[in-house]
Amino acid sequence: MQARSLEQDFQAIIDAEQKIEPKDWMPDQYRKTLIRQISQHAHSEIVGMLPEGNWITRAPSLRRKVALLAKVQDEAGHGLYLYAAAETLGVDRETLIQELLNGRAKYSSVFNYPTLTWADIGAIGWLVDGAAIMNQVALCRTSYGPYARAMVRICKEESFHQRQGYEIMLTLAKGSPEQKAMAQDALNRWWWPALMMFGPNDKESAHTEQSMRWRIKRFTNDELRQKFVDMTVPQADFLGLTVPDPALKWNEARGSYDFGEINWEEFWNVVKGNGPCNLQRMKARRKAHEEGAWVREAAMAYAEKRKQRAERIEQRA
Ligand code: 3HC
Repeated sequence: MQARSLEQDFQAIIDAEQKIEPKDWMPDQYRKTLIRQISQHAHSEIVGMLPEGNWITRAPSLRRKVALLAKVQDEAGHGLYLYAAAETLGVDRETLIQELLNGRAKYSSVFNYPTLTWADIGAIGWLVDGAAIMNQVALCRTSYGPYARAMVRICKEESFHQRQGYEIMLTLAKGSPEQKAMAQDALNRWWWPALMMFGPNDKESAHTEQSMRWRIKRFTNDELRQKFVDMTVPQADFLGLTVPDPALKWNEARGSYDFGEINWEEFWNVVKGNGPCNLQRMKARRKAHEEGAWVREAAMAYAEKRKQRAERIEQRA
């Protein structure tokens, strides 16, 4: 009987719904795809702090400020879990961060839009974190063990993010006419960028087919986008707000909403760096990295000192 190849053994583990762990053999392309996806996911978490951080000092009440502070802090933690998961694949986070800072790695396009009013903070929690949850709940079952486990912890925190955002939108939508108009304006500006978070249509996606075969992805981009629309439209109805898509219509036969075509020219324009806030976001990200250099150096020096001390104690023992 012909010996099964390493790839066949690997695929058999995947098909048996077992997790791939850092020390397991894996095809180079599997490793490469995971480093790409996990690091860009981590970059998104960190850059995603910027649009919301912009409103921490301007939150309308102490309660809103505290919730927003907690959310932004959570996102930093999500970034750290994800860089740690990427490092299990044999790459170090400084390399990954340098790839972001010199424009070779991506982060989610949605974070290149401006946060113009307080309602944007509600729309981001409701729609952006809502879309992230749709994507991340599926990733709790991704085939790579460390990524799946990082997702379980992250999803628990994301549900608070989505709820605090929806509560902001509910307060505004049930408030004065000016407040409701502010909530509608935010929905108008964040609806389509949130749909773009799920990536290009399946037929345009460079990675989906292979990522589905390797169970890195459990649903395709279009399947997750559809689930998000079907979940979110009734929430907009409850708010008394109108989804900015004239083609949106319940399709009884499909048991889903039909919706309009995404502006893919806008999507790829933003992905390529020409969105409303790309330059501003990367300038802020580079500045934060430079200003944080002393913290990293101090932490590394302290770790080195502790290591040398432990070695001296060991030699004396
Ligand atoms: N923004 C920027 N780039 C995007 C994108 C988006 N919204 N959607 C797709 N792309 C890029 C892909 O990275 C890929 O480019 P690359 O080859 O240079 O990496 C290219 O477009 C083709 O897209 P594919 O769909 O073929 O790529 P993937 O198979 O990687 O699918 C994805 C894209 C669905 C985003 C997938 O990478 C994924 O699920 N990533 C993990 C989740 C994630 O990163 N979410 C981002 C938001 S995190 C967040 O919202 C935090 C929350 O707390 C707010």
